[in-house]
Formats: sequence, C-alpha cells, structure tokens
Amino acid sequence: MRAVRKVHHAAWLLVVAVLAGSVHAIAPEAEFSAGGMVASRSKVASEVGADILARGGNAVDAAVAVGFALAVTYPSAGNLGGGGFMVIRMADGTVAANDHREKAPLAATRDMYLDADGNVVPELSTHSHLAVGVPGSVAGLLDVLEKYGTMSRREVIAPAERLARQGFELDLDTARSFERRMPEFARYEASAAIFSNNGSPFARGDVFRQKDLGQALSRIKRSGRDGFYKGRTADLIVAEMERGGGLITHEDLAGYESVWRQPVLGSYRGHDIISMPPPSSGGVLVVQMLNMLEAYDVAAMGYGSARLVHHMVEAERRAYADRAEHLGDPDFYDVPVERLINKAYARQRFADFNPLAASSSADIAPGKAVPPESPDTTHASVIDKDGNAVSYTTTLNLSYGSKIVAAGTGVLLNNEMDDFSAKPDTPNFYGLLGREANAIAPGKRMLSSMTPTIVAKDGKALLVTGSPGGSTIITTTLQVIVNVVDHGMDLSDAVSSARFHHQWQPDRVIVEQRGFSPDTRQRLEALGHTNIVEMPFGRGIGDANSVMAVEGGFAGMADPRNAGGAAGPR
Ligand code: DON
Repeated sequence: MRAVRKVHHAAWLLVVAVLAGSVHAIAPEAEFSAGGMVASRSKVASEVGADILARGGNAVDAAVAVGFALAVTYPSAGNLGGGGFMVIRMADGTVAANDHREKAPLAATRDMYLDADGNVVPELSTHSHLAVGVPGSVAGLLDVLEKYGTMSRREVIAPAERLARQGFELDLDTARSFERRMPEFARYEASAAIFSNNGSPFARGDVFRQKDLGQALSRIKRSGRDGFYKGRTADLIVAEMERGGGLITHEDLAGYESVWRQPVLGSYRGHDIISMPPPSSGGVLVVQMLNMLEAYDVAAMGYGSARLVHHMVEAERRAYADRAEHLGDPDFYDVPVERLINKAYARQRFADFNPLAASSSADIAPGKAVPPESPDTTHASVIDKDGNAVSYTTTLNLSYGSKIVAAGTGVLLNNEMDDFSAKPDTPNFYGLLGREANAIAPGKRMLSSMTPTIVAKDGKALLVTGSPGGSTIITTTLQVIVNVVDHGMDLSDAVSSARFHHQWQPDRVIVEQRGFSPDTRQRLEALGHTNIVEMPFGRGIGDANSVMAVEGGFAGMADPRNAGGAAGPR
C-alpha cells in the first residue's frame, strides 16, 4: 500500500514538473516564431506585417505596411490623418527615430482655444475643425520606408489598399466601437456614411469597405507624398477645413516634413534603452524614471509590493512634474534632454525621496532642470529574423480623432491640437499640465507621451514595446521594461500583469482592478498614498503589444487588455 502511494506521489510530482516546464506564465502564452514577429492591435494588420516578413521584407517594410493597414482596419487610431513616432534599431546597431507628429497650422495662435475672458472653451481643441493638426503619418511612413526599407512603396501599401477596397470582416470589437460612436459621427455626413451601414450599426461579420480611403491610398501608392499632401486628397482636406472653419491650408500640407531625430539613449542594469525624443516626452521620462530606480534593488522588493509601488510612484511624480515644465517641441523650445536623462540628475532629483512616506505633488515643483471619453492610440512592435527592430506608436489622439472625415477622402482627421497646453497649468484631456515649452505656435509640434521603445542587450534588440493610453503610456512602458529586466518575467506576463500610474497632477494613483492586493493597498495608504483610484482592466491603461527575442526566435504578445489584437506569424 505504502509503495503504491509512493508511486502515485512520484507520478504526481512528474506531472507537476512537466506542467511547470510548459506553463511558464500566468497570462496566455505569447506567440513564437523563429522568422520574426509582429504584434499589433489589429489581427488583420498583424497578418499583413507577418506576410511582408514571410516575403522577405525587413522589419521596417513590415512596420510601414502595418502602419498603412492599421489606417484601414483599426481606424480609431491607425491613420493617414494623424501622426506618430517610429523608433528603429537595425541589426548592425544603427538607431534612428522618425518624428511624424502633427504640427499646428500656420494660422494657429497661442490663445486660439480661449474665450474673451481667457478661459479654455470646452471641446474646441477636441471636437471641432480647429482641433486638427497638420497630419504627419504619410510623410513619416514613406520616409522611413525609403531610408531603411527594402521593398517598394507599391508592395507595402497594396495590402492596405486592397483591405480598403475589397473590405474585411468586422470583428465584434470593431463593430461595437463603430456603434458606440454613431451619435458623434452623425455630426459629420461623411463620417456617418462610412462608419454606419446605411444609418444602422455595423455588426460582427459585416464586410467593411472604404472606397474613398482605397482611392486615397492608391494616390499615395502612385505619387508618394505628393499623392497626399498635394493634389486631390489635399484639395479635399482643405475644402473640409474651409467648410468647417478649420485652419489647415495647402501651404500647411505641402510644407509638412517628417523629422529624423537622435533617439533618447539610456541604460538600465546593463541594458540599452532606445526611445523617442521630444516632441515626445516618453523617452526622456522613461529613462529618467529608470535612472531613479536603478539605485534600488527593485527585484528584491518584488512585483506588486507596496515598497516597490511607492518607489515607482515617487519617481513618476517627479518625472511628470519635469514634463510639465521642460518638455515641448525641440524646434521651438530648448528642451534640456541631456540634463533630464543624466544619472546624476536623477540621483539629485530623487534625493528627497522618503521610503517611509509619500510626498505631496503640491510640494514637488518641477526640477530646476478617468476620462469621460475613451481615448485611442495604437502601438505595434516588429522584429525580423535578422534582429532589425521597429517600435511604432501612432494616433489620432482621441478615439477616431476629431471624428471628422475629410469628405471624399475617407481620411479621419486627428484632434491632436489638444496635446498643446492651451493655457498655462490648465489640464488637457489627459489631465496633463504644461507651460511655455508646450504653448501653441504656428508650425510647432504638440508634446506627446507616445513612447515607442527598444531595449537592447549585448548588442542585440531584446524587447520592442510601447503602448497607447495618453499620459499612462510612459508608465506602461516603464513597467513592461521593469517586469522584464528586474522581475525576470517572460513577455506574456510582462505585458499582461496589472499596472498602475501616477502623473504628478492630479495627485492620485491609478491602478487596474485588483492590481493591488488589499494589504498592499493598506500599506500604500499608510505611507500616505491615500488617493488610489481603481479602473477596469483595458480602460485607460493601454495595450502594450510587444515582441521579444527569446531562445531560438522571437515571442510576440498582443496585450489582453483589448480584444482584436494579435501577434504573428501564428
Ligand atoms: O501623443 C499623445 O501623447 C496623445 N495624443 C496620445 C493619445 C492616446 O494615447 C490615446 N490613447 N489611448
């Protein structure tokens, strides 16, 4: 009897050991492939990218094809009428950052969103033709392709054009998203015509065709940037502006250029951090926060411990205070990037950190150096078989941007102007404050939080990450990096585990539902973090679709925070 039990016990241990060997993550397993990997918010767009890799394209070809495809398959954030950032690390170590952020039209003025009494007019910078910045995505995607891609414009745009013309089957997530916005689209005839099925909501399985957008893509395919910034598309955008009282002119469009910028470079425990410089605040803040954390034994404190959350929140509070004062378009404002990402500065900035008590944002000045509407941006990560890596974040700002389609183009226009500081120390949609560095000026780029980032180790790309989520983008990116580097999580857990966020003002900690255990929360409150707000998983804190080099190939993870995304090839 005893012997039998012993055998049972041994068999059970064997089962446990086998399971432990195969199930190594809490979250659903990441996709795996030896031939490169694409992760994005749209299954169809990820398939487009994976197909480009399969046909011998490099990561840049795939990322550009995904960018155009997202404009068709994920129109709430994928776009031709918005802007984005792409951070690239080629396998030979070359790094680059393409800034195709929207610009304020030449006729924009500093106080354009204020009334006669100097108060911000509600919704003018989000829901009007005046909200639209000069779009940058088309110029950026084409410039990136030309400099680092291997395929022709035709090859990378054709899949998006086909998806627009022939249509694709809507999944539940996208059909519902269109339906939710119907009242807002109804304000604009061209928008309502596209995002409803003859006035009724689209349903799952309906084929969604976008004829005008297909033609707009075809003009870009044929004529490159002139196929968007000049000619018919430009004429129609300008006509839309004139009809609705917007500011964008032919001169604005023809004059738009993407800009190659030196990426923000940092290091964290032997890893290289390559991220987006201004006009994004993302790279600077991520590196600054990692610098503040590097002095502490983050791994020993442990994921989810009150001690670690306290350290991270205090780092976030200080970094976001600096954001409000120092970050803006570097072509207009002297942003002290080098000083902000300096390790000595981080030590000095964190010197008043008290491990036993929360500080108050009211006492944290910038260093001398749950919203009513769901926002939307989208992030895609790509790595190819050779280890070329692309981290790409793109946006219309809020979900479907201004909701305005330039009639006849199928192109949704952004409402990125809200990312400027319309008035000093007055919160924008994300509650972010800004001052002179981010004041409106003609031709200036509005400050962003988008943080496309690549982490490299031993001369090779290790992790490609980033996310949507407005102000929470930067802390999401920080947490994915810390989860991998400090907590040793595999990609699926690093992306899926609960996240929290602090942005200096408003002075509160946001955490995903059940993200803090009751006793963690109690300890945080005892330290003085008394304003803790829970929000549902997948709302507000964004989906960090990421890829990572692993033994024998690459892992890809579409963040479970949102349905509809996918990593592949699968
Ligand atoms: O550039 C920015 O920081 C914002 N316009 C991003 C908006 C965003 O992430 C909305 N997403 N969920």
